Amino acid sequence: MDSYSLSVQAYIEQGRQIMERDQKQRSLMRGKKFDTIAVHGLYDMQSALANQGSIIEPAFLSTAQHFDNSDHMEAALAYLMPAWIYARVTNPTLHYLEETLALLEGYGFDGEVTAHLTGSGMAAVFLGTNSFLMNDPAHPKPNIVASARCYGGTFTLFTRYANERGVELRWVRDPLDLTEWAAKIDDETRFVFGEMPANPSLAVIDIKAVADLAHAAGAPFIIDSTIATPALMRPLLHGADLVIHSVSKSMATSGFVIAGVVISRSNIISKVGPDEMRLNYANYIKGYPHRDMGPTLNPLSALLTINDLRTLRSRTDISSRTAMTVAQYLGSNPAVESVQYPGLPGFPGYETAVRYMELVDASGSEAARFGYLLSFNVRGGAAAARQVFDRLQMIFRATDLGRVKSVATIPMISTHQQISGSDKDIAGLQPNLIRLSVGLEHPDDIIADLAQALSLV
Ligand SMILES: Cc1ncc(COP(=O)(O)O)c(C=O)c1O
Repeated sequence: MDSYSLSVQAYIEQGRQIMERDQKQRSLMRGKKFDTIAVHGLYDMQSALANQGSIIEPAFLSTAQHFDNSDHMEAALAYLMPAWIYARVTNPTLHYLEETLALLEGYGFDGEVTAHLTGSGMAAVFLGTNSFLMNDPAHPKPNIVASARCYGGTFTLFTRYANERGVELRWVRDPLDLTEWAAKIDDETRFVFGEMPANPSLAVIDIKAVADLAHAAGAPFIIDSTIATPALMRPLLHGADLVIHSVSKSMATSGFVIAGVVISRSNIISKVGPDEMRLNYANYIKGYPHRDMGPTLNPLSALLTINDLRTLRSRTDISSRTAMTVAQYLGSNPAVESVQYPGLPGFPGYETAVRYMELVDASGSEAARFGYLLSFNVRGGAAAARQVFDRLQMIFRATDLGRVKSVATIPMISTHQQISGSDKDIAGLQPNLIRLSVGLEHPDDIIADLAQALSLV
């Protein structure tokens, strides 16, 4: 600070006061319930008064921030005071959303939590993992250990890391099998990655046990928690270092937004990278790799997401109840070979799901919720599955999920089509698998559509 002029130092001091106020507001909101946080985030009365009194977070569409003078600019561009500078780096509307996401993901967690928004879920998977692959002469032979039960885009991204960067990719075929994780993680592992529940297999993971294995080898444990959302599961509470979401899904349920987020606790575990990266990974990627690569979210998309996010808990409650009813119906239909849903007692990961997933701020039977996503195998193979899929009359055929409207897809020919033949086997995909994202329609109408589609099998 000594090398800055007195006037620059005055701006730095102003910035310190802004951060102190934000920190006070964060502490205050941490004492509120999940729904209250989802509705208000950090946008309080003082924020409203600074924005023409607007009770709703405004959309700031301007590309750049005007500065008082060169001293103000110097302090801001040196990241020595809160500022948004230029909309590729950040923006006030994105900041409101980031603060809400950090508070929701950190709900019940005793420590600092920070969020960084990206222009898509895949950009979040990329930025949430890429920094761990930096060159480090002390660790010349990097490997990554990841659950093969993951979204097709993540599967192909990690395959790209292996093909283009000489990183050894070690897939865990059965993410419930701790001996498989233990056998694959070693001192050269740069990061350990899991998706829970997984798209489309709904596979689950013993988060605490895998986090312990990763940490013992000096590697961070990164969880893609898109399908659960913090309304059902908060992996930071169980030892995860980073949580990634495709915000495009049920967080922005209306279907107008593609977005992603990387959320970090402070002092993550990593054997590579600067201290600044370990201290606050989300801020680090905002200030450096994201700034330089530029996969930025549009402020209007952030505003639409802020709006949908307010009802996350109650929507999750309804869609989880409907999904359970639909899963039970499918399980009783003779045209269905098997149903994958974490809330079904016969599901292989049921006990693990019960340990980690529950509706936030609920208790007893009201807390037993397992999300809106399920998948089922149609008896009669690929042709029969395609027939059932083609007969759907209300449930949309689309590569999408987390919507207010029910949507179905056949992963083998859509979300996971780009995975090569032998890798499809590693990922555990079957051609007769239909993935169903249950929306907010009445369960009777969803079941009626499925019943008529399955009736010819
Ligand atoms: C679990 C999961 N992670 C990441 C992604 C990628 O997100 P986006 O489509 O927002 O890039 C998806 C998309 O389907 C997903 O299901």
